[in-house]
Amino acid sequence: MILSFDTSCDDTAVSAFEDDTKYSNIVISQNSVHSKFGGIVPEFAARNHVNTIHQATTEALRELSVEIKHIDHIAVTIGPGLMPSLLVGVAFAKAIAYSNRKPIIPVNHIEGHIFSPFIGREIEFPFISLVVSGGHTHIFKVNGVGNYELMGKTLDDAAGEAFDKVARILGVGYPGGPIIDKLSKEGNPERFSIPQGMAQENTLDFSFSGPKTFVNNLVKKLGNLSKTDTADIAASFQKSVVDILCRRLFEASKVSGIKTLSISGGVSANSLLRNKLKEIASTHKLKVIIPELPMTTDNAVMIAKVASLSLSRGTYNYSKIDADPRFKTYEAQPP
Ligand code: KG4
Ligand code: ZN
Repeated sequence: MILSFDTSCDDTAVSAFEDDTKYSNIVISQNSVHSKFGGIVPEFAARNHVNTIHQATTEALRELSVEIKHIDHIAVTIGPGLMPSLLVGVAFAKAIAYSNRKPIIPVNHIEGHIFSPFIGREIEFPFISLVVSGGHTHIFKVNGVGNYELMGKTLDDAAGEAFDKVARILGVGYPGGPIIDKLSKEGNPERFSIPQGMAQENTLDFSFSGPKTFVNNLVKKLGNLSKTDTADIAASFQKSVVDILCRRLFEASKVSGIKTLSISGGVSANSLLRNKLKEIASTHKLKVIIPELPMTTDNAVMIAKVASLSLSRGTYNYSKIDADPRFKTYEAQPP
C-alpha cells in the first residue's frame, strides 16, 4: 500500500494505491488561481499546495477506506518541476514518513507520465513513449523500468506550453489546451497553413516557437478577430501540432523498429491527437497505448505506479530525500 504525492506544478495530487485496480485519485486543481495570469505563477502555486495538501491527503485515504497505519511506503515526486511547488510535496511527504516511520520512494515526474498509460494494462517492453505536457515534449525508447533512451525533444517550448501561449494570444483563457481542443471542433483546420513545429528534418526533435510566432503575427495582421477567425486559427494550430507529434512518433517507430507506442501528459488528452493516432495504428499495424483521460494530466496514481514498479531500486530514509527541479528522467535514480 503506497501513499503518493505530486506537487510538481499547479495541481495538488495525492493517491492511496493498493494496486492498478484499487486506488484513489485526488487532484485539487489551481486553474482558477492562475487563469487570470494566463500561466502558472510558481509562488502562488506553492502557497496553494500548502493550503490544500492536507485536505487532499485526508480525501485520498478516506476514498480508499484506509488509514495511515495501513500504508507501507510513501512515494513523492522530487522533480522535475517548479522548485517552490516541489518543496511543498517533498516536505509534506518527509514529515509523514518521519512521524509514521515509513520509508520513502522518490519518483521522477516524467517517469510517472511514461507509465501512466499502463495503469490497469500489461506493460510490453520495449515501447516508444511520447510525453507531451505543459513542461515536456520528449520521445523515449523505454527498454525497462529505469532504462530510458532519449530519442527526441523540443528545443524550445513544450507542446502544451505552445497551446497555452496561443490561447493567450487568442484571448480565449487558460489552460489553453482544452480550450483550443474545444474551439477547434467549430473551426476550419485548412484555412491557415501554420508551419510545423519541427526542428531539423533528420532528427526527432521539435520546435514550437515558429508556429507560435506565426499565430502571433497572423493575429496582428487580421486585427479584430471574429468568432470564426478565432476558431479557424485554433483548429489550424491544433492540426499543425498534432501532425508533427504523430509524424515524429511514427518516425521513432520506424528508426527503432518498435511497434508499441504510447502517449502521455496533458496534451495526450487532445481529441484530435487521440483519434489520429488510432487511425495511424490501424493503417500501419502499430499498437498505440493511450491513457485514460484522468491519467493524462498530472496525478499521483502514476507516481505510485512508478514506485510500485521500482521497489527493487530501494527505499530511502526521509532525511535522504530532497527536491530536484532538474531531475533527469534518464538518470531515474536519485544521487
Ligand atoms: O501533464 P500536465 O497536466 O502538466 C505538466 O506536467 O505540464 O499538462 C498540462 C498541459 C497544459 O499545457 C494544457 O494546456 C495541456 O496539458 N492540455 C491539453 C489538453 N488538455 C490539457 N493540450 C491539448 N489538448 C488538450 N485537450
Ligand atoms: Zn506532468
